[in-house]
Amino acid sequence: MRDAEQSRPAEPPVHVAIIMDGNGRWAKARGLPRTAGHKKGVEAVRRTVEAARELGIGYLTIFSFSSENWRRPEEEVSDLMGLLRFYLRSEIAELHKAGVRLRVMGDRTRLADDINRLIDQAEGLTADNKALTLVVALSYGSRQEIAMAARRLAEEVKAGRLDPAAIDEEAVTARLYTADIPDPDLIVRTSGEQRLSNFLLWQSAYSELVFVDTLWPDFTKRDLEAAIEEFHRRERRFGATTAGSR
Ligand code: IPE
Ligand code: IPE
Ligand code: MG
Repeated sequence: MRDAEQSRPAEPPVHVAIIMDGNGRWAKARGLPRTAGHKKGVEAVRRTVEAARELGIGYLTIFSFSSENWRRPEEEVSDLMGLLRFYLRSEIAELHKAGVRLRVMGDRTRLADDINRLIDQAEGLTADNKALTLVVALSYGSRQEIAMAARRLAEEVKAGRLDPAAIDEEAVTARLYTADIPDPDLIVRTSGEQRLSNFLLWQSAYSELVFVDTLWPDFTKRDLEAAIEEFHRRERRFGATTAGSR
C-alpha cells in the first residue's frame, strides 16, 4: 500500500508563479547590453510556458514588469515594452493553438495604447482556452493591487452597497486582479535573490517559496521540474499540525 502510494506520480501544483530575474546579470557576464538578456529571457518564457503545459500545471503566472521597474532608465523601459509588443504579436497564434488562455494583470493605465489593444485582442482570442492559464504580471505591484482593492471596498461602502462589517478576507480577495485565480502553490525566483519584490503579497500567504541560482535566460524545463520536486518534498501545513501527529 505504502509502496503503491509512493510510486504514484505526485499531482503537479495547480498554480506556479515565477519571478523571472537575472536577465541583466546574464547579459553582463557576456559583455552584452542588458537588452540582450531580456531578449534571451523571452525565449525562456516560451520554453517555460510549453513546459508548464506539458507538466499539467493549471496556472502559470510570470512577473514580467513590476510597478517599480518603471524607474529604470527610459531606454531599458522602452526596450522591454518593445519586447512585449514583439511577444504579443509573434506568440499569440502559437499560444492559442496550444490551448493557452492569456491574462494580463497590473496597472494598464501606464501602458501604451497599442499595447493595451494587443492585450485586449490576445485575451479575447484565448478566453475560452483550457490547457493552461498564463497570467502575465505587467506594470504589477502587490501593494498597489491591495490599495486598489481597499479603494474599491471604500467606494462600495460609500455608495451604500456594502456593510463595513461584511469586509472579510474573501471580500478583499474578490477585488484583487487575481479574484478568479487560485493562490499560487509554488513561487519560484531565479537568479539567487531571495525576496518577493512586491509580488503577490496577499496571495502568497501559504505558497512554498523556491529560490534557484539559475539566471532567467538559462531557465529550462529541467529547472521547473526541479522546483516542483522541491515543492513536493515540502510539507504544507496551513497552520495545522502534521497529518497523523498529536
Ligand atoms: C528580470 O531581470 C527582468 C525584469 C525585471 C524586467 P533583471 O533586468 O532584473 O536582471 P538583473 O536582476 O539586473 O540581473
Ligand atoms: C522583480 O525583479 C520584478 C520582475 C522580475 C519583473 P527586480 O529585479 O525588478 O527586483 P529587485 O529590484 O531585485 O527587487
Ligand atoms: Mg533583477
